[in-house]
Amino acid sequence: MDPKQWIDVTTEVQYSLDHFVIPDHYEKALTSVLIPHGVIMDRVEKLAKLIVQEAKGPLVVCCVLKGGHQFFADLINYIKKNVTRGGKSVPLSLEFIKVKSYSGTESGTVKLSLTDEECKEFAGKNILIVEDIIDTGKTMVQLLQKLKQFEPESVKVASLLIKKTPVSNGYIPDYVGFAIPNAFVVGYALDYNEYFRDLDHICVISEYGKDKYAIKN
Ligand code: IMP
Repeated sequence: MDPKQWIDVTTEVQYSLDHFVIPDHYEKALTSVLIPHGVIMDRVEKLAKLIVQEAKGPLVVCCVLKGGHQFFADLINYIKKNVTRGGKSVPLSLEFIKVKSYSGTESGTVKLSLTDEECKEFAGKNILIVEDIIDTGKTMVQLLQKLKQFEPESVKVASLLIKKTPVSNGYIPDYVGFAIPNAFVVGYALDYNEYFRDLDHICVISEYGKDKYAIKN
């Protein structure tokens, strides 16, 4: 996707937590709301429309767990609504991939849960991978390399977020919701050590939050 088509979220437009409903248990653990839930939903609707317009046939939509699950669920709903509104009908089948690449906020080793047997199902299909965030780009490049060995007809990637970071490997997905500053964000299923998935808005975690929810041995 051409970067001109992204929504560029800058640090100047972060909203005070007071302007939104934030679960009490997370108030002190966050500094600000970066992307309110309503804006996320509006953007997901647009991505769904673009995906449907460009789809060449049935899609195997692959959710990258766990962080991608909310984006995946909302995206699928909007693709289905497109049909009820008289838009192009695209048959969907759904797959789930577990990828673990992070412990805390540090980029760690990438582990994919895909077995070769599962990957064989992708041969000749049009695949759409749905991911929450591209940070260094390492996870996605490895996942794509693995999937391409199984000769799918096409593979496209939709990522809700892309982080502007100096450690990026330059990978850019086919569909991007928002480009965000180089901060660790949580909410809308994005986690920090499994916390904050139960938060609707995408928020910036505070130093207090990083410490409170750190893995302590
Ligand atoms: P990459 O391989 O560095 O691109 O990392 C991608 C994965 O790291 C994502 O699927 C997320 O699980 C995780 N990740 C990277 N940045 C963040 C963040 O700001 N918040 C939550 N998870 C993140």
